[in-house]
Amino acid sequence: MKVQSITLAAIVLKVIKMKIYNPLNLHQNGRFIMDNKFLIICSFILFTQFLCAEVIEQIPIEEKIATQKILGMIEHSVKTEALHGQARRDAHPKSHGCVMAKFSVLASLPKSLKMGIFKELRDYPAWIRFSNGSGKIQDDSEGDGRGMAIKLMGVEKSKSLTQDFVMINHPVFFVRNASDYVEFQQAIIADSPFRFFFPSLNPFKFRLREFWIVNEIKNKDVTNPLDIQYWSQTPYSFGQSAVKYSARSCHKSIPLHESSSPNYLRENMVRQLEKSSACFEFMVQVRNQSTDMPIEDPTIEWSEEMSPFITVARVTIPPQQFNTPKQNELCENLSFSPWHATPEHRPLGGINRVRKVVYETISRVRHEINGQEIIEPTRF
Ligand code: HEM
Repeated sequence: MKVQSITLAAIVLKVIKMKIYNPLNLHQNGRFIMDNKFLIICSFILFTQFLCAEVIEQIPIEEKIATQKILGMIEHSVKTEALHGQARRDAHPKSHGCVMAKFSVLASLPKSLKMGIFKELRDYPAWIRFSNGSGKIQDDSEGDGRGMAIKLMGVEKSKSLTQDFVMINHPVFFVRNASDYVEFQQAIIADSPFRFFFPSLNPFKFRLREFWIVNEIKNKDVTNPLDIQYWSQTPYSFGQSAVKYSARSCHKSIPLHESSSPNYLRENMVRQLEKSSACFEFMVQVRNQSTDMPIEDPTIEWSEEMSPFITVARVTIPPQQFNTPKQNELCENLSFSPWHATPEHRPLGGINRVRKVVYETISRVRHEINGQEIIEPTRF
C-alpha cells in the first residue's frame, strides 16, 4: 500500500513538473485554486488505492444460485452412493489414515506474522487426515490429488474450537469460481470430465489452463504422503492481510516404493511411522500485491518470487500405530472444513464461500445417514 501510494504521488508530481498537465491554475486574484478535473482524478486514485490495498472479496450475483446447484448435485450423489452401504465424503473419500500430531508455533516470528493462532508461542494437539482426491475409491496407482487436512484442537477463539487447514499436493485449484464448478460437477455426474475442459467445438470456450492443472496433479509421482508438499490453493485472511498456506515435508524419510498393492500409500505411512517420526514445515505466503495475487481465482498461483513462503510452525508426527479399526472409524467420522477457523483466519474467495455451505451440509448428511453424531474433538 505504502509503495503504491508513494509511486503514484511521484508520478503525479512528475506530470505537474513536466507541465504536461498543470492542475493548479493561478486565479486572477493571485490565489491558487484546484481545478475540478484534478480533484476527480485524485479521488479516483485514492479510491482505487483503497480497493487495491484492502482484501476485498467480489461476490458475483450468480454465486448464490450456483452454490445451491452444486450443493444439490453433491447431496444427491452422496445419498445415491449411500444406497449401496455407508455414506462417504463426496470428495476425498479414500483415506490413508488419521495420525496424531503436534503443531508448534515457532519462536522468533516477525511481529507482522504474530496473528491469530500464531500470536502465542504454543503447541496445539492436532489430527491429520491424509487422503486421495477422487470421488471414487480407487487404486493408489491411479493419478490423483493427495489431500492433507490438519485439525488443531483447543483453539478458543474459533467457534468450533478447532482450526483446520485443508490442503492438496498442488499450489493451484483447477476451477476458478462457483459457476464453473457447476459445469464441472455436471460433467462428473455425466461421467465425462472432458466436457468441462472442452465444452464445445469453439476453441474460445476451451478451459486449457484448468486442463493443464489437472494433468499436472495427476502426473505427480507420490509414494509416501508423509514425504511431499501440500498447499491450501485458496486464500485466507491473516488479520488485515491475506495468505495462502503450505505444509512441506521437513526431510525425505526412508525411501519407500510404489507396490502392486492398491493401498500402498497407507502401507508406506504405516511402515514409516512404525519406527520413525515425520515432520512438516507449516508456511504462509503473504499477499503483498493485488493484481497478480487474486483473491477470487484459485487457478492463479501467487508468485513465490514476489512473496516467498515463510515457515511459521512445525508439525511433528511421532511414531505411532494409527492403522487400527478404532482410529480408522474415528477418521471416517471427523469433519474437516476451511470454515473451522478463528475470525483472523477466515476463508476468502468464491471457491471457499461455496465450501462453507457444501462442507457443512455434506458432513451433516453423511453423519445422519450413518447414524453418527458430529463431534469436533477437543483432545486426543
Ligand atoms: C467448490 C469447490 C469445492 C467443493 C464443492 C469441494 C467439496 C468437498 C466435499 C463435499 C468434501 C467432503 C466433506 C465432508 O464430507 O466432510 C471435500 C473434502 C476435501 N476437500 Fe474439497 N471441495 C472444493 C474445493 C477444494 C479445494 C480448493 C481444496 C484444496 C485444498 C479441497 C480439498 C479437500 C480435501 C483435502 C478434502 C478432504 C478433507 C478430509 O480429509 O476430510 N477442496 N471437498
